[in-house]
Amino acid sequence: MVSSVRILMCPPHHYDVDYVINPWMEGNINRSSRERAEEQWNTLHQVLKRYATVDLIEPQIGWPDMVFTANAGLVLEKTVVLSRFFHPERQGEEPHFQKWFEDQGYTVHTLPKSLPFEGAGDALLDRSGRWLWAGYGFRSELDSHPYLAKWLDVEVLSLRLVDPRFYHLDTCFCPLSDGYLLYYPAAFDTYSNHLIEQRVPAEKRIPIDEVDAINFACNTVNVDRIVVMNQASPSLKQALETHGFTIVETPLTEFLKAGGAAKCLTLRVTEPRQGEPHSSSIQSRVVQLEGHLLDSGLVNRALDTVVSGGGSFQVLNFDLGEQRQDASTADIKISAPETGVMADIMSQLVDLGAVSLPQETSSAQLERVVQDGVAPDDFYVSTIYPTEVLVKDQWIRVQAQRMDGAIAITHENSGPVARCKILRDLKAGEEVVVGSDGIHTLRSETSFKSKQTDEFSFMGAGVSSERRVELVVEQIAWDLRQIRDRGGKAVVTAGPVVIHTGGSEHLTHLIRQGYVQGLLGGNAIAVHDIEQSMMGTSLGVDMKRGTSVHGGHRHHLKAINTIRRCGSIANAVEEGVLTSGVMYECVKNNVPFSLAGSIRDDGPLPDTKMNLIEAQEDYARLIEGADLILMLSTMLHSIGVGNMTPAGVKMVCVDINPAVVTKLSDRGSIESIGVVTDVGLFLSLLVNQLNKLTGQYAQH
Ligand SMILES: NC(=O)c1ccc[n+]([C@@H]2O[C@H](COP(=O)([O-])OP(=O)(O)OC[C@H]3O[C@@H](n4cnc5c(N)ncnc54)[C@H](O)[C@@H]3O)[C@@H](O)[C@H]2O)c1
Repeated sequence: MVSSVRILMCPPHHYDVDYVINPWMEGNINRSSRERAEEQWNTLHQVLKRYATVDLIEPQIGWPDMVFTANAGLVLEKTVVLSRFFHPERQGEEPHFQKWFEDQGYTVHTLPKSLPFEGAGDALLDRSGRWLWAGYGFRSELDSHPYLAKWLDVEVLSLRLVDPRFYHLDTCFCPLSDGYLLYYPAAFDTYSNHLIEQRVPAEKRIPIDEVDAINFACNTVNVDRIVVMNQASPSLKQALETHGFTIVETPLTEFLKAGGAAKCLTLRVTEPRQGEPHSSSIQSRVVQLEGHLLDSGLVNRALDTVVSGGGSFQVLNFDLGEQRQDASTADIKISAPETGVMADIMSQLVDLGAVSLPQETSSAQLERVVQDGVAPDDFYVSTIYPTEVLVKDQWIRVQAQRMDGAIAITHENSGPVARCKILRDLKAGEEVVVGSDGIHTLRSETSFKSKQTDEFSFMGAGVSSERRVELVVEQIAWDLRQIRDRGGKAVVTAGPVVIHTGGSEHLTHLIRQGYVQGLLGGNAIAVHDIEQSMMGTSLGVDMKRGTSVHGGHRHHLKAINTIRRCGSIANAVEEGVLTSGVMYECVKNNVPFSLAGSIRDDGPLPDTKMNLIEAQEDYARLIEGADLILMLSTMLHSIGVGNMTPAGVKMVCVDINPAVVTKLSDRGSIESIGVVTDVGLFLSLLVNQLNKLTGQYAQH
């Protein structure tokens, strides 16, 4: 029985695969058979005429894809939003479809020229008319969705497509009668899947697998309880039949070569309104990025952040600096399908240094802590970069900057004060910054400063290879020398490998010469250093001959025991029990040290802090005000230190394992330098270089 449904089709007289604008077309140029295409299209036409009235539009020479009428536009009642094709290869279809709609008495809305939207290929009404599912990601722009909401007066739910094979919503998503939904979940991002699950109850969802998806099972024409498709697997047939649908298969293989099937070949032109009109929930914000946007790759990272976070963007303005050293500015409009998605994107953009345009900037949102040590849900997570927050109309600099903290605001006589705090230090009643409004991280300044010299840009390149180690060492030696001479602060964090690799004599030299203002490590560095000092072995290996000593595996325990008897490393030095080595030099030269415990520690030494909160606080105290941190072959302690160090502090990470170096240097900070080499060799090169520098100074 023919229902009141009307469908628009276009005969395939000029159909062919003439170009490649989707992955299905690759390798299929001119490979489709016109005859077979006509035959398959005619069969589909005959099938559909059993269930609906089919209108035809005249095909046009030169526009082979006009056969896919789903992309003509999107209809609701007597209104149509005409498609704006993404690819020029299809743009010539627009006037033909426009004329057809106008001739039929539709009100036709056209989108701005630069705003792609591909009609009912990317926008599908829930079959009970409650809302519109609208796809974006490949062909249609998210920014077209508010227009749909406005012109059609319908609630729009935006879904992000992530698999290029399913470039249109109707290739992987098909709302069916009575609220059922046939869809391929893997074609959507997590947020979209979540949205689908929220709106369509589990018993109404019919997810399909990849085999059915690539046979275009979702590209189905549904009239009442009939579903017309290219092909369905036995399991899909069963699932549809269980839910009361009758499947009509009709082969459309010639059209699959162009990336379309039954639904793409049709446009439903009778779409009655059912349900209350709604508005769109799409959010948009304009942000500004400033700095060496192209050189530093900042613009790309920002745009990637927007797209991978489920939003879309439009670059409104891009002022490139005239000279190489000039900064550039970009104003970018960000759109997101929902407030939560926008908040996530904005917080990441803020971390990249983006700032809302002045007219859009609002004060930082503050929320009170209700339980000691627990931040409000949506608290802004701090980064290593200098940060400002807008409180009571003034931008104030955040103190004690570190990553992974919350920003607490206190109101003092002099005005509001912002400070980074780790979660456990938050107190009930205290105000904390939430969301991402009124926050500005100052990244570009730092990167710019660090790019002043060629050496720095080389250092900024990240991890160095063996052959570049000597060059890096020259730079670090220069820095250490400068820091010492101006009374600055260099801190070393070191693991026991420093001792095993014979680095002890070099590290002690650095301490004696005043290049180290603090030492951080675990139980092991101290234990093996003391073992070496007392017994000449490190982990039982004779350090001079490089061979294991009989019974040597007990040496480190004996060393621990001796220090425990003295009560502390300092006591052991004072009593003349410990007479050389790294720890000895620290005590003798008043270099503060902190040993943080771990579960694998033997003993431990009396100085090792097994209370990790105390150890973290001690570390934070020792690195405060540091100019440079040398991280020597300890992943555990270096990561700990890295997390509490603000940007601006130069970090040098030396490790034999490139993965560790990359992890530690990858703070997105230009100041971190990775050196992949043996730590003993590194220290010996460093000391040689420092001696050379001292020699040069002596001659002048
Ligand atoms: N006896 C003890 O009490 C004892 C012994 C060992 C470790 N520990 C404790 O365990 C924790 C983790 O120990 P960790 O810091 O040694 O381990 P870790 O895994 O954190 O770091 C060791 C690092 O050294 C690197 N490395 C190895 N050989 C190297 C070389 N020749 N040159 C440069 N880098 C090299 C490795 O790639 C690794 O990244 C620490 O707290 C430590 O104190 C205790």
